[in-house]
Amino acid sequence: MKKPVLKLTIAAAITAGTFSFQAAAVQVEPVYAQQPVNVLDHKIVQHFNVENVYQNIDYLSKEPRIAGTESEEKAVQYIQSQFQSYGYETEIQPFTFLSYTEPESIFLSIEGSDETFTPSAFTYTVSGSITGELAVAGLGKKEELADLNLTGKIALIQRGEISFAEKVLNAAGKGAAGVIIYNNTDGALNGTLGEANDAYVPAVSLTKAEGEALAAKAAAETLTASLTVEGASVDEKTSHNVIAVKKPTNQTKATNDIIVVGAHHDSVPGAPGANDDASGSAMTLELARLFKDIPTDTELRFITFGAEEVGLIGSEYYVDGLPKEEVSRMIANFNLDMVGSRDAGDLVMMTADGEPNLVTELAQASSTRLNGEAIPYLEGGRSDHVPFAEAGVPAALFIHDPAEPWYHTPDDTIDKISKEKLQDVGEIVGTAIYEKARFDNQEIKVKKANKVKVPHLYHNEDIQ
Ligand code: BES
Ligand code: ZN
Repeated sequence: MKKPVLKLTIAAAITAGTFSFQAAAVQVEPVYAQQPVNVLDHKIVQHFNVENVYQNIDYLSKEPRIAGTESEEKAVQYIQSQFQSYGYETEIQPFTFLSYTEPESIFLSIEGSDETFTPSAFTYTVSGSITGELAVAGLGKKEELADLNLTGKIALIQRGEISFAEKVLNAAGKGAAGVIIYNNTDGALNGTLGEANDAYVPAVSLTKAEGEALAAKAAAETLTASLTVEGASVDEKTSHNVIAVKKPTNQTKATNDIIVVGAHHDSVPGAPGANDDASGSAMTLELARLFKDIPTDTELRFITFGAEEVGLIGSEYYVDGLPKEEVSRMIANFNLDMVGSRDAGDLVMMTADGEPNLVTELAQASSTRLNGEAIPYLEGGRSDHVPFAEAGVPAALFIHDPAEPWYHTPDDTIDKISKEKLQDVGEIVGTAIYEKARFDNQEIKVKKANKVKVPHLYHNEDIQ
């Protein structure tokens, strides 16, 4: 948390006329032993306006901003207009992704039987209506199916060993027109096929008890089943990244380096996403506003990404589309995701491989200068720093840990946002960026990060 004494000390130094910006890295009276305060930090702290951040969170969090919908588009337009109002030229980068709509209804019945079932659909199942022989197909592994003729049949498969998607694809590959997968433990099976695939056939799940009883019956006599999945669809949607670039102030003295400051502007359905991640988007805007008129020798890119909540799609699209030469010039990605919740824990950084890098080092140094404490880092993915880390760019997520109870709920609203937390993050990140981006501070060594591989999509449902 902020220590007001720090500000007073700097303010006193300025009033007493002992302060000058020409004297680079002048150190004022240390407030904390061994943690001298760099007066250049003050340039950032002084210009950072938490009210702007709060206002923009308020504006953005009136409704959920679901990727590929009009509400996300409105947020994109707003963010662009804010960047423009600070004097930036902006780019809106469109990209498409596949969006899945859950089925409205599912029916399963056995001919000549009035038994009822409680089937549930696998996420990414296709729609369809089939009547065919029920074929018991073990675990649905390729070798088990080799000698079975499944053409036009509904395969009844037990959960286990391989993913649900593999089971469906194996059965469909042998001609099955539908698939039922039953659980191997008690309780409901809440599963996903992981991603859309044209080769899928309608696929539903049953409980262990239902599936075992059906398998026993089907082994004893030929059963004909009817399976209908209605209303499921995969649609191509368009989302956007918003990009504002600040070139080095004086080209002749510029470095070749690029620092990316970013956040995601989309939210999950049902959640207004004040903290996740209107907070990071608004913080990105404020840092862009603040740095617009501050001389830097490093290029700064301020970006809000779309479609993060459906699998880091915007940031991945952005990084994948960069020329190799540009990626090699990227020395840091500051990812601001969930940076203002009153009800979350302390500020931490997460890196994809759990290792420190330039971003964690700069922020540990700035937090020590400002607050007398280095913010810790730990391993964590689940956000837009991952595609940067995978491309070898030193990257870290700034977040409060543990997350607030309102995460991904309708209660992620502006009233839970803490200006104090926003102020703290803004100062730490702003001064960390400035430490590297300002003129005459080229002695900080940049070591490119090792490329890491991290899953982009975390499913709430089981995949196997
Ligand atoms: N802001 C979250 C990430 C997060 C939340 C990280 C809590 C650490 C603690 C992000 O917007 C999110 O929800 N990500 C998804 C994963 C994404 C790849 C679809 C998630 O974690 O479910
Ligand atoms: Zn988020």
